[in-house]
Amino acid sequence: MAMKITVIGLGYLGTTHAVAMAKVGHQVIGIEPNQSRIDSLVQGKAGFFEPGLDQELKAQLATGRLRFRQAHDESSREADIHFICVGTPQTAGSMAADTSYLESAIRDLAPFLREDALVVGKSTVPVGTAAKLTAQLSTAMGFTSPNLAWNPEFLREGTALEDSLNPDRLVVGVTNSRSEALLRAVFDPMIKAGVPFLVTDLATAELVKAAANAFLATKISFINAMAEIAEVSGADATQLAKAIGYDERIGNKFLRNGVGFGGGCLPKDIRALIARAEELGVGESVSYLNEIDKINLRRRDRVIALLTQELVSLQGKRVLILGAAFKPDSDDVRDSPALGIALLAKAAGAEVVVHDPIALHGVALKHPELELEQDLAKAFVGADAVVLATEWKEYRELDPKTVNPGNKFIIDGRNVLDVAQWQQAGFKVLALGRTISN
Ligand code: UGA
Repeated sequence: MAMKITVIGLGYLGTTHAVAMAKVGHQVIGIEPNQSRIDSLVQGKAGFFEPGLDQELKAQLATGRLRFRQAHDESSREADIHFICVGTPQTAGSMAADTSYLESAIRDLAPFLREDALVVGKSTVPVGTAAKLTAQLSTAMGFTSPNLAWNPEFLREGTALEDSLNPDRLVVGVTNSRSEALLRAVFDPMIKAGVPFLVTDLATAELVKAAANAFLATKISFINAMAEIAEVSGADATQLAKAIGYDERIGNKFLRNGVGFGGGCLPKDIRALIARAEELGVGESVSYLNEIDKINLRRRDRVIALLTQELVSLQGKRVLILGAAFKPDSDDVRDSPALGIALLAKAAGAEVVVHDPIALHGVALKHPELELEQDLAKAFVGADAVVLATEWKEYRELDPKTVNPGNKFIIDGRNVLDVAQWQQAGFKVLALGRTISN
């Protein structure tokens, strides 16, 4: 049954969710205070790189089921469900998540909220936030038990729309059966398609998301910790990952060792979980996540150490960083390991040039001090060292015979290159987590 919904906050999560909800047949109003984002969305442009999203956005605009507003108006009052998808970034100068955008979203929605309508938070939040927002809503609305639920989102950048339409599972934290019934109705097509639907309390739903991201970060740092041991013992962390991954209890996913994790989620979410556990008086429970963060950041130092080992000093040396995005198929450079390495090399005196197929515009805004080159062949010219930091297809499939750096030396920061092929083309190849004989 088609329902009327609003989606509040049209960033990565909100835009994808709004399009997915329209695609399954609901009438969707997207609310976004930033007029230039609305101007872009109405033209069918999501404003960030996400395969297939612009196309589906255009298709849903054409159905008339998807509309955008800068602020709530009377049409919001008709909605049965309001999904809140605003950002919860890391607070400046602290590890905690900033939940102020959620509070403003609730404040702006309250005057247009029907008593029987449901507010559903989708943002990643510290456990306990939903209870606080329920209290805020109750004060703003003047009734004691407003309907607020939590429905964490597990989408990954690069496969966001597919992840929204065919999630591994749906988790809904609710306080009453009416909220559950509304959520079952809105997700009916997915439930009918067999997606597991888990009903929990609010705190569990909030914590599920933090726990999932903490587990994924832990898996990556675990294999990167093994890489540190492999590097000093002559073992090979990529073979090790393959060998332990055959054990189904361990699994082979998220065990790729390399320059580590980045992006707008994993780094900030583990820090927010540490901060929240400390606030709750159980800081020790996740204090190991501090190590997970440190192992992750040490991988960047390892690349600098390998560069220095080869070039003796980085002073005045030209270093090409292949990749700026935190992962392929994304133009997101938030907390990107590739950029982190670029900045460390620059700080060590190197002349750094960064190439990325699509993410350079974001780098230009944040780091005007870095030299950027869009043309891959030109980027190689004169390089004393090359670091593959984001495993874009362009780099994985690059024929090393077609590029001409000043010095044929490459560090494979993601363990994706065909080492023999690069060596045959005259390159010295080093990699993370294994020793390569050149
Ligand atoms: C992550 C989670 O995977 C999603 O489930 C979650 O919904 C999302 O955060 C979120 O909280 O919104 P995402 O940030 O898009 O998704 O990226 P991932 O695919 O998880 O990759 C994160 C980082 O880990 C990337 O920098 C990637 O290069 C790195 N990574 C991944 C590794 O270094 N090794 C691996 O084996 C896997």
